Amino acid sequence: MQDTPLARATATVLFTLNGRPWSVHAVAFASLADTLREELGLTGTKIGCEAGDCGACSVRLDGEQVCACLVATAQAEGARIETVEFVNAIADRLRIAFLAHGAAQCGICTPGMLMAATDLLAHDPAPSRGQVEDAIGGVLCRCTGYLAIVAAILDVAGTGSDPSPKRCVDPLCCAEGSDPIRTDPVRAVGARLPRVDGWPKVAGTDRFGADEAPTDALWMRVVRSPHARARFALGDLDPVKARNPGLATILTAADVPGENVFGIFTGMKDQPVLAPGVVRFRGEAVLALVGTRAAVESVSDADLPIEWAIEPPLSGIEAALALGAPTVHGGVPDNVLARGNLKSGDVQAGHTCAAATTEGCFETAFVEHAYIEPEAGFAVPVGEGPDRIEVTACTQAPYMDLEETARVLGVDRSRVRIRPSACGGGFGGKLDVSVQPLLAVAAWVTRRPVRIVYTRTESMASTTKRHPARIWAKSSADARGRLTGFEMRADFNTGAYASWGPTVANRVPVHGMGPYKVPNAWLRTRAVYTNDTPAGAFRGFGVPQAAIAHETLMDDLALRLDIDRWAIRRVNALDHGDATPSGQVLKHSAGLPKCLDALKPDWDTALSRVARHNAGAPRYRRGVGIACMWYGCGNTGLPNPSSMRITLARDGSLTFFNGAVDIGQGSSTVLLQIAADALGLPVRAFGMVVGDTDLTEDAGKTSASRQTFVSGNAARLAAEDLRRKILALANAGPDAKLTLEGAKLSIADGEASRTVDLATLVIPEFRVSEISGTQGAEHVKALGPGSPRSRAPAGMTGRDVVLEGLGCWDPPTSPLDENGQGVPYATYGFAAQMAEVEVDTVLGTTRVVEIIAAHDVGRAINPTLVEGQIHGGIAQGLGMALMEEYIPGRTENLHDYLIPTVGDMPSIKTYLIEDAELDGPFGAKGVGEPALIATAPAILSAIRHATGARMTRVPVLPHRLWEALQGREERS
Ligand code: FES
Ligand code: FES
Repeated sequence: MQDTPLARATATVLFTLNGRPWSVHAVAFASLADTLREELGLTGTKIGCEAGDCGACSVRLDGEQVCACLVATAQAEGARIETVEFVNAIADRLRIAFLAHGAAQCGICTPGMLMAATDLLAHDPAPSRGQVEDAIGGVLCRCTGYLAIVAAILDVAGTGSDPSPKRCVDPLCCAEGSDPIRTDPVRAVGARLPRVDGWPKVAGTDRFGADEAPTDALWMRVVRSPHARARFALGDLDPVKARNPGLATILTAADVPGENVFGIFTGMKDQPVLAPGVVRFRGEAVLALVGTRAAVESVSDADLPIEWAIEPPLSGIEAALALGAPTVHGGVPDNVLARGNLKSGDVQAGHTCAAATTEGCFETAFVEHAYIEPEAGFAVPVGEGPDRIEVTACTQAPYMDLEETARVLGVDRSRVRIRPSACGGGFGGKLDVSVQPLLAVAAWVTRRPVRIVYTRTESMASTTKRHPARIWAKSSADARGRLTGFEMRADFNTGAYASWGPTVANRVPVHGMGPYKVPNAWLRTRAVYTNDTPAGAFRGFGVPQAAIAHETLMDDLALRLDIDRWAIRRVNALDHGDATPSGQVLKHSAGLPKCLDALKPDWDTALSRVARHNAGAPRYRRGVGIACMWYGCGNTGLPNPSSMRITLARDGSLTFFNGAVDIGQGSSTVLLQIAADALGLPVRAFGMVVGDTDLTEDAGKTSASRQTFVSGNAARLAAEDLRRKILALANAGPDAKLTLEGAKLSIADGEASRTVDLATLVIPEFRVSEISGTQGAEHVKALGPGSPRSRAPAGMTGRDVVLEGLGCWDPPTSPLDENGQGVPYATYGFAAQMAEVEVDTVLGTTRVVEIIAAHDVGRAINPTLVEGQIHGGIAQGLGMALMEEYIPGRTENLHDYLIPTVGDMPSIKTYLIEDAELDGPFGAKGVGEPALIATAPAILSAIRHATGARMTRVPVLPHRLWEALQGREERS
């Protein structure tokens, strides 16, 4: 609704809310969701789109499920409203079931899901699976892949075919929470623990970026460019301020006190906080209005004196690489931001000696992260001056945010604090800063707390995407199907700013031939600047795009050589002791052969089943596909250390200071499980502080599937460090058993036992411990005076802490040389996935019937969380394969940009392969990105098996497949 006096009219509205009568004086046309959150403080109701597309705002109104963002507050007069905060028996059973099934990951969709499920069960206590799917069909989840949610609801209804195994739902318990298939009940590692941060998510009390702010905070609204490439001049802003007394200020580039750029890599920080007269993509930040909410919302973009000089944009890779193309950035004359290269053996010889050679061109689209939580947060100035700025926002990388924010403010990093809020999904999209520098500058300039909540459109238009790719690849094999040569040239559209473009350019050459033995390989990549939306990190850093190419070519070779598609992958699969094309010998975990072997019976069965189905030449043809993947955990040939700290205080409180942000994948739980077993105390004994840069060490970013592997090792080392110190108190041996009851710490070593009273323990003054791990000394040196360890933990004085364990771990890698040779990663995740699809050959639509996924995870620290990652990755891979295509200016909402709903999900069967990684904590390695990578190529393989159509462009939208089925050229 337009901002008019009528739209701003207020009214007193009476209703019953969660069983109690309420009256609220609010803007009559404000959405009920907004009023619940902002006027009544019931932030359990989430807002993901404000357009009826995501269902995050679902509540019950007079006994019916509604989207509260579509209900005007005045319409609720006299109504009975129930929100996620409502406590009743059905909701409580659902909450417990959601925890037990791992149905809440980031948790931003969880209140909406719970309300939809509550509504269903209130109407029908014993619904069918189809009814459950219908009930939650309007609520989007980007994390879970929905199956755990459906299982949880069916569990409560008692109508599920897969009743919940006996699992503990106490988040602080591990003893009874063990996986029934594991026999040792006292081990946390391997147990299906409910997530330790789960209860606030199911209770609706978790605080996401938009859920809290000081009551006196100003609001900020960013004015963004409607043009992809333009220069602009600002007129006099004073009249605008004069007309709108609620405005505290209008920020421009001139107000940025430090460097007006941010970015990921030193030397490539090129994105302004506020554009200084030039914009390079549609959606770029130009101005920021700061003031009362009414004021910033009432000033329209048209009210602002901005004079545009529009220039033709470079849209797409081809335009940017064309001869004579203008430059996006003056210092990059050919618009190529970064190049990657890997060369091993003699690729021409590899092609020449082959029995079969194939090649192809492939194209992928921009893919939007579509986390259900748009970016949001607030900043608070501290002290006069101000002395410091504290930013609370959703993020995947608090320490990177700190560095960028400090540079933008032009202050020492000790003057910035980043407090991550709960993060409602990230998938790479919250690795770059978004709201943080804007908030910091606004709070700095106004000396007032400032908050911001991006709209869905703003989030989609202004934040990074998956790089669109244009890939040519060629692959050769001998008569037995063994690869003899592989070649790839891949260009990635990195958009207007660098972001993670160099990472994509460097990671893809290492992975682009697939997880196979390839004696001769040459892969070249480019990240290309354009005037499109910046592309950045998205679950896989370019590897999912490349996997579509290498897996399609693998199917080509199988067809030409008349070899089964499973068999050709098995003969080429990297195994222990094999060298990768980077020259790295896989010393430990390399479980791809085991993954493929796990799939073999399903593969044979599915081929027979599908052959029978297709025998009558039906309209709905079925097909089975297969694809493999690998993914290096951590940064590519670069250091990426993580540090962790565990303290024991006089009162017996054991606190895990964990700087790894949990964005829904479950790292808080997994790292605690690792720490618990390494220390020898149960998970329930620990408290945890997560991700506050004042309180925790730098654990690095939550990306590149590194937290379980890298931070898991740091957690293990910290726990082992603390254990060593405890054992030293009693002169006990390494197998001693610990018990902690209040301030009494008991150490039992065989027959001998000693109890230490921590309250009276005499120890030297609190001091910095030595860091455990090989990189410890180096890391200590790197920590400056602002190091969190120079301050006492939250709520403690230095003397409160009696013992402290510290651990730091940096994966053993080496930089790549100019030919991509070296040790880019310490370990790799491997997987093989099968897809079964049904294609409507008349309409060109594809339904994925089943995915069977075998993943080598080294060790499943928490099988429920690992399976949750796999399910969620498969959902995103399915979206990438069949429906997701972000088009700047056209699909900037969740109505036009489609992501999978529960109705799109296939059944999923998982095999967890535990090929232990000796460098990993308890053998574990990452699964976050591996979960997604094989899905799209497996679906494409299945479509081809069903129809013969070799699809080389994703998403395979119905019109593209239909045209391919007609034998026509594909058109966009
Ligand atoms: S916020 Fe209401 S449907 Fe998305
Ligand atoms: S758990 Fe559903 S969106 Fe994250």
